[in-house]
Formats: sequence, C-alpha cells, structure tokens
Amino acid sequence: MSTSIRTQVAIVGAGPAGLILSHLLAEAGVESVVIDQRSRDEIESTIRAGILEQGTVDLLTRIDTNTRVHTVGDRHDGIELRLRGEGHRIDFPGLVGRSVWLYPQHEVLKDMLALRLGSGQDLRFNVTASRVDDVDADRPRVVATDADGSELVIEADFVVGADGSRSVVRPAIAGTSRDGYFREYPFAWFGILCEAPASADELIYSNSENGFALISQRSHDVQRMYFQCAPDADPNAMSEAEIWETLQARVPGTALNEGRIFQRDVLRFRSFVARELRHGRAALVGDAAHTVPPTGAKGMNLAIADVMILADALHAMFGENDARLIDAYAETASRRIWKAQNFSWWMTSMLHKLPEHNEFDERRQLGELRSVVESEAGRTYLAEAYTGWTL
Ligand code: DHB
Repeated sequence: MSTSIRTQVAIVGAGPAGLILSHLLAEAGVESVVIDQRSRDEIESTIRAGILEQGTVDLLTRIDTNTRVHTVGDRHDGIELRLRGEGHRIDFPGLVGRSVWLYPQHEVLKDMLALRLGSGQDLRFNVTASRVDDVDADRPRVVATDADGSELVIEADFVVGADGSRSVVRPAIAGTSRDGYFREYPFAWFGILCEAPASADELIYSNSENGFALISQRSHDVQRMYFQCAPDADPNAMSEAEIWETLQARVPGTALNEGRIFQRDVLRFRSFVARELRHGRAALVGDAAHTVPPTGAKGMNLAIADVMILADALHAMFGENDARLIDAYAETASRRIWKAQNFSWWMTSMLHKLPEHNEFDERRQLGELRSVVESEAGRTYLAEAYTGWTL
C-alpha cells in the first residue's frame, strides 16, 4: 500500500526548527506537512538544553503573546564564570541590553505542538522518512513509512530537513550523510537532573583545578548540573555520592544543595557543519545542518535562527516568485552558523581540560579567561554572543 499526498513544503522533523518553520510558513500563507518518526509523547519528553537567546524569546513572544516563557520560564540577566573558585559575573543587560531565558526545550516543543495542532497543521507522528528524491526537479518527494507500515510519499515544491543530526534529508543535499566540516572533542558532559532547591540564582560555568562543571537550573525544585567526563563514561557507573563529590569539588566557593538524582546522561561533544545547506529544492536547518558542543547553549537557538532565514526565503519564493533569498540561504545562514560554531568551540576550549594539557596550557587558559572577565570588551563579546547576535 502506498499513499501519495501533495503540499508546498514537506518538513521532515517536528523539533523546534520544523515546528516553528511550519508556523512561520502558515503565517505567510504557505502550506506544509510535517512528519516525525517519534510519537508526540517522545518529542515532548526529550530532555535537552534550557537556555533561550533574546531573539528566540522575541520570536516565541511574537508567535504567542501568552507564551509560557514569561511565566514558567525565568529571565537570566547574567552568568558567572568561576575561575579556580573566584567568581566573575557577566552582566548581560548592562553590557549589551539583552538577556536570556531559562526555559527547557521540551517546554518550547509542548507549546509549539499545541499551537500547530490547534491551527490544523498537517502534522504526522510515527512517520519515518527513508529518502528524498528529485531535489533537482520541480517536485521533490519524501518517501516515508507510515505508523502502520505502509508507504507514504509526500510530493512537494520544497523539502526541508529539520530531522536532527542523523538526518535522512542530508544525503539528498550534501551527497553523503557525513560530508562536512567536523571536529570531535576528547571529552563529554555528565548531566544530571535532581530534586533540590537551586544552588545559585544564575548559571555558573566553573573552570576548577578538578575540571569543569556547569551549575544550571530547571525550576524551584529541579536542578540541572553537568561536569566534564570521558566520552565513553557510563552514566550508571557512578553512585549518587560520587556524583555529588565530583560536582562539589568543581565549584569551590558554592555549597551545592543535593537531592535525589532522577536522570543522568552523557552528552557527546562534536562540532559539525554540512558542506551543503541547500541543493535544488531542498534545504537543511538545525541539527541536520550543524551540531555545536553544548557549552554556551547555542543548539536550539541556532536552529531557530536558520528557520527565520529560511521562512523569509520560502515566503519570497512562493509569494513573489523571487528566488534570490533561497539562492542566498546557505550563505546567509552560514555566517551566523560559523559565529556560533566559533563561540561554542571557544567557550568549550576555555573551560575544559584536555587530556594532553600540561601546566603551561592550564596557566594560559586562566590567562585567557582573565582577558575576558577583566576587560569590558571581553565581557561584552561574551554577552553579545551568549544572548545572541541580532538577526
Ligand atoms: C544548559 C545547557 C548548556 O549547554 C548551557 O551552556 C547552559 C545551560 C542547561 O541545560 O541548562
């Protein structure tokens, strides 16, 4: 059994990028179909990062003036860099007049799913795309397997890969799934969610003698924390007591509030940008187009920036028959992508210990951190990048 449907834009992936794109297209009168291989429940319960840039919040507020970002989320006007126990605050509004919001990605997903389904969006869960054909022709097609195992073919005018780092759309655009610019890091983050009151009002990024830790938050009674670990670390190998001891040793100067740890995960560190972001009538956005290491929380924000650029381009293409913006999409998106790649790499390199680090490297790293925190220009660059460059 094979079913064929037709739409203007076929969007593979119902993460933040795919959902927000479908919304912006609908606002511009462009019809889309969104598919995702996961169930709605899986999408809504995937734990990811929690920091939204100012521009992301401005967009979510424009999309829905009652967005829960402003009630459930928490505005953060700064972060702390802690160097060997010494705290240095980066005051975002004071430096750049912008802020960030702590509002977890799965909450954004819940909001966007409710909004899109409420507006009658054709949004199909448990549908697995297997390939994209004919991106060089006028009518590219997404070939997928429906929830019941039958074939679904989506014929579209344009196909968007918003399907994450294992994108099936990427080979149709970049030639292979791995062709791109790539860097792996010899470490990872051990992340926990725990039931405890917050240990600090703002995030603390700590470069300590014992290694890196990040103290983040989720709500009054749930906290998110990370520490640098080996890339092959087993999240279940450490006892809760060992986890607390490791974390505590890495944030000298703060007594952490401990509590039951109810989730643990190991986050791999990689940087990647696909060699091609658009080919013919198909384009990549978000993690399908690029991966950043988590330090600095750029992943979802960058995905949403891609989508804003692509939505304008598709609007011009469909609404005014003007292909200039779509032809410029890869170049326009790349400029921000590489700034974010640099920022994520830089924050990572300043804060983590490499296995080959000797005393020179450690002292140089502290010199670099001091060049940032003790200089208004340095703090301003960090604040500008962290809160997000204006589009
Ligand atoms: C979080 C994750 C990050 O990568 C980061 O830089 C800041 C916060 C988080 O999950 O809270």
